[in-house]
Amino acid sequence: MKITVVGAGAVGATCADNIARKELCDELVLLDIKEGLTDGKAMDMMQSAVLLGSDTRIIGSTNDYKKTAGSSVVVVTSGIPRKPGMTREELIGINAGIVKEVTANILEHSPNAIIVMISNPMDTMAYLTLKANGVPKHQVVGMGGALDSSRFKYFLSQALGCSPHDLNADVIGGHGDKTMIPLTRLATLNSIPVSQLLSAEALEKVKADTMVGGATLTRLLGTSAWYAPGSSGAAVVEAIVRDEKKVIPCSVYLEGEYGQSDICIGVPVTLGRNGWEKIHEFPLNDEEKAAFAASAEAVRHMNSELKL
Ligand code: 2OP
Repeated sequence: MKITVVGAGAVGATCADNIARKELCDELVLLDIKEGLTDGKAMDMMQSAVLLGSDTRIIGSTNDYKKTAGSSVVVVTSGIPRKPGMTREELIGINAGIVKEVTANILEHSPNAIIVMISNPMDTMAYLTLKANGVPKHQVVGMGGALDSSRFKYFLSQALGCSPHDLNADVIGGHGDKTMIPLTRLATLNSIPVSQLLSAEALEKVKADTMVGGATLTRLLGTSAWYAPGSSGAAVVEAIVRDEKKVIPCSVYLEGEYGQSDICIGVPVTLGRNGWEKIHEFPLNDEEKAAFAASAEAVRHMNSELKL
């Protein structure tokens, strides 16, 4: 099994490190345009593997896509990250050109690779990957919902004083500060609805903190976050390569599900060796339906900037 991570910035390197630590493949290629960067990162990670006991072989590549040939899964993190005060959407101009070129190169050498999209604006970059390359829809998975749901569980666990591992809580919709939809009504602590454990105000605060979760970190760090985005990418990769059939909210191509078509946006999907394998459609209440429609509208507006 071979996996490639494109982009060896903080998110890509964290994702690669997680993949290697979990030994999700025998061979992991880390590719970046910056001369020597991936050779250094690969060597550093291999030296940490001596201590960790991981046997994954990590190979650096300075923009040589031949080294990525035969990858089963490719994670794309290329592009510029947000700076404080920027939205993910403001990155579109630069990142669209980069993602288009990267995914074309990847697919030339690994035509069947499942592409896990992390670059922002993530929903639009997943859509661009599908449209520009004409690959089957199950092959492109945007990881935003995995990350947003981990932030939702974190804030819920802080409010409840509980383990985040006992929580079932998902975020659907777009991966944007105003477009994501933390499903507070359906979140549970084991089987207890969190709405019975927290006041309406407390739950609203959790929802609001989740929605600006990425922006809060960008403000604190001076650039966008990397530990949770990198780990979320690795969790999606793990579900795919281990054929786990885990249900994780991811940005996938809709054809009528949730009343939307011709768009990539976050919905709960089963992940397995074929990429995303099934969309789980369940009844939303009127408020959630309206939020999902508004979220889709915003993502669609962003997609129109691509001028495909
Ligand atoms: C975030 O939300 C980078 O989009 C990523 O932190």
